[in-house]
Amino acid sequence: MIIANWKCNGNKAMINEWTNNFLSNYIETKKAFIGIAPPSIYIESLLGTKLNKLEEINIGSQDIDISSGARTGAISSEMILDFDCKFSIIGHSERRQLFNERNDEIKQKILKIAKKTITILCIGETLEENKNELTRDVLKKQLEVVKDIELNNSLVIAYEPVWAIGTGNTPTPNNINEIHKFIKDVVQSTSDNSAFPLVLYGGSVNQDNAESFFKEKFIDGALIGGASLDGKKFANIINIFNGTK
Ligand code: 13P
Repeated sequence: MIIANWKCNGNKAMINEWTNNFLSNYIETKKAFIGIAPPSIYIESLLGTKLNKLEEINIGSQDIDISSGARTGAISSEMILDFDCKFSIIGHSERRQLFNERNDEIKQKILKIAKKTITILCIGETLEENKNELTRDVLKKQLEVVKDIELNNSLVIAYEPVWAIGTGNTPTPNNINEIHKFIKDVVQSTSDNSAFPLVLYGGSVNQDNAESFFKEKFIDGALIGGASLDGKKFANIINIFNGTK
């Protein structure tokens, strides 16, 4: 599974150019589930492109709100389902840090879409927590949001160390692999029906380092920010994934 998180980037012209660059570089196979999460206002534009004709390509949202109603600026789970979004990213560290999202809100969001569409729950430690060897404690705490929720295969976890996002720094592939195994074990032992989730890695993934990550057993794919803004680079990373897994 390879997901593009465009964050607050892009415009109509970019979508056209991106689509052309992607399609002329992507080697078509149905292997990887490919997701694109544009800013919500562009979801409909992407649904109307040639991209959406490839069955392995899925359009999703970068977030949902905890409910509908008098919540100016918010986008509800019902709305993304209305647009047939195939996944939603929940709990990204930028939401936690810039919008003060707490674990209890993240849990409410998961409950809104659990079993209706794929939830990509983002977790990750800060640099300070990493240096203080608190990574596993922090991740375990963040994973408490799936405790006692009945899950099926629709839960995916993205391990995104905050210090690796947009910095060019990453943990070693072996470190990531061990953390992913840990995450799978924690989810399996705490969720209501022992779900064993796919775990994606996110944080400075690019064409040059992607293969080293995808070779690892417990790295099931990637959640990509910066490199996903270029259709050619994003296609190349998918081609590498399909050739490695
Ligand atoms: P970068 O790939 O730009 O480091 O961003 C990762 C990320 O935050 C994806 O959600």
